[in-house]
Amino acid sequence: MKYFSKFFFIASLIFTLSHQLFANEINVYTSRHYDSDEKIYEDFKSLTGIKVNIISGKGKALMERLRLEGKNSPADLFITSDAGNLWKIQKDNMFRKILSEKIIKTVPDSARGPNNEWIGIAKRSRVIFYNPERVTDLEIKNITYEDLANPRWRGRLVVRSSGNIYNQSLVASLISSIGIERTEKWAKGIVKNFARKPQGNDRSQILAVANGEADIALANTYYIGLMLSGEKGEDQKKAAEKVSMIFPGQADNGTHINISGVGILKNAPNPSNAEKFIEYLLTDKVQKHIVDNTYEYSIKSNVPPNKLIAKFGLNFKTDETNASDFGKYNPEAVRLMDRAGWR
Ligand SMILES: [Fe+2]
Repeated sequence: MKYFSKFFFIASLIFTLSHQLFANEINVYTSRHYDSDEKIYEDFKSLTGIKVNIISGKGKALMERLRLEGKNSPADLFITSDAGNLWKIQKDNMFRKILSEKIIKTVPDSARGPNNEWIGIAKRSRVIFYNPERVTDLEIKNITYEDLANPRWRGRLVVRSSGNIYNQSLVASLISSIGIERTEKWAKGIVKNFARKPQGNDRSQILAVANGEADIALANTYYIGLMLSGEKGEDQKKAAEKVSMIFPGQADNGTHINISGVGILKNAPNPSNAEKFIEYLLTDKVQKHIVDNTYEYSIKSNVPPNKLIAKFGLNFKTDETNASDFGKYNPEAVRLMDRAGWR
């Protein structure tokens, strides 16, 4: 009997260890909410035999889950659509360094976190949408983010709430380039210019411009692609067609760029499969799939944006502030917006 239990103990130990060592799978926690990402996971499995298990949720909720699970988390990878969130996980010491040369060489320096603990897989820019019937060329030409605080836009601007991470990252980026004082003054001007209390998502800001509730809006580029594609219905397509888009900061620091990015968890059970998966995300084929389905920009310069986005301009100047500054100045940005009354 004694020998039997010993046998079972050893057998189960071997089973657990071999499962840990040879499991052909990865566990991905992702806050990207795009159905089109499913195809990437399926294609990766047919190509490599590695199964992709997905846990999806909001960025904040997934980060909380990772923290609660701690060392026992089954997560190999965390994918999210904001550099500020990646920075927070790194700060909690939960990511490991990405070692693959292939990955490091492909992703530009400004889209990689400190110590290469996370990298961007796609880019998005936060731009200005406007109603060309109510905004003159002279008003909008060479506009900068700072110009949005100008009293000329009093009661004409819409933007979502300060709780939104895209806004927090933009404000953090401004803090990084122009300092706290100037950014706070700017935020106060922004609040004065609101056409309505911040509400809704980025698409709802574009819709407000289309229906005349406001003249200009701050939102991410890919939303206009999504609306123009007709995926969100004929009404939103028609609304999007009424709206123009401009890249702010062209005569200044350039347009604010954020990333969809990924990191490998320190306690990842399948770290080498996880690196293989990131390498796969950076192939031209997957990059093209991303730009054609989510209307983001590729992280690679040789993969052009989808035509619905390309028509707004291809060679615009991008703000080279390192994406990790969005995390570094996030707490300051949140407090600053609160002081400015941006709710
Ligand atoms: Fe988004």
